[in-house]
Amino acid sequence: MEATVNSDGSVTNGDIRVQDLRISYEQGVLTEDMLASDPFTQFTRWFAEAAGGSILEANAMVVSTVDSGGQPTSRTVLLKDISPAGFTFFTNLTSTKSHQISGNPQVSLLFPWYELHRQVLVTGVAELIPRGAVEEYFWSRPRDSQIGAWTSDQSSELASRAELDANFERVNERFASADVIPVPEFWGGWLVRASSVEFWQGRPSRLHDRLVFRHTAKDSDLTQPSHWTVARLSP
Ligand SMILES: Cc1cc2nc3c(=O)[nH]c(=O)nc-3n(C[C@H](O)[C@H](O)[C@H](O)COP(=O)(O)O)c2cc1C
Repeated sequence: MEATVNSDGSVTNGDIRVQDLRISYEQGVLTEDMLASDPFTQFTRWFAEAAGGSILEANAMVVSTVDSGGQPTSRTVLLKDISPAGFTFFTNLTSTKSHQISGNPQVSLLFPWYELHRQVLVTGVAELIPRGAVEEYFWSRPRDSQIGAWTSDQSSELASRAELDANFERVNERFASADVIPVPEFWGGWLVRASSVEFWQGRPSRLHDRLVFRHTAKDSDLTQPSHWTVARLSP
């Protein structure tokens, strides 16, 4: 249905008035005594509820990076590992996001679990993960995804969809007799070591619960309560 911008600046989409879209957040609370003593336990607890419930791709997270001029960019990637060291995702190392991380490793990760009226916001610093861990993950992927990684010069401009499809066929032929597809050197993983992890639970009247773990120790170990302080933020 066609959206219309009205003379007063409001937007209507058929019978839907965008400004009237609102729900009351009444699914739960997050109090200090409910909060785990470390961000790892709290994250895995909420993640299990998200992944085991109604959330489609609970491991989808929005990664925000900045370019050299301070312009932020966001995009969704999939969380592929959570460990005491941090949060890992895999991508092309010549992509826009990887270029930006190479220039400024400070990133944020946002898990938007709307159906649970929750979000988790991580800020931190990204670093490349070792090649051994990249290989282990790459070879666990379906063969077509491995071919896809070789095919896509991620974030570069294509002349057409046909160009991409032709690239895929070319790579497919190149590796037709290969039992093991090598890991492209331009493909890898980023580990985000957290400096803060905020847990947000929607509440009625927009008086939401926001509890943030802030990193205090030199080493960032998500499982060590002594490495973190907890504060409540105003919604
Ligand atoms: C649900 C979802 C999951 C995605 N997962 C990944 C991923 O794990 N790695 C990746 O490189 N891109 C992933 N993408 C594509 C990215 O959002 C993005 O388009 C791509 O990485 C290029 O981003 P960049 O040009 O900012 O570097 C995903 C997109 C969606 C919608």
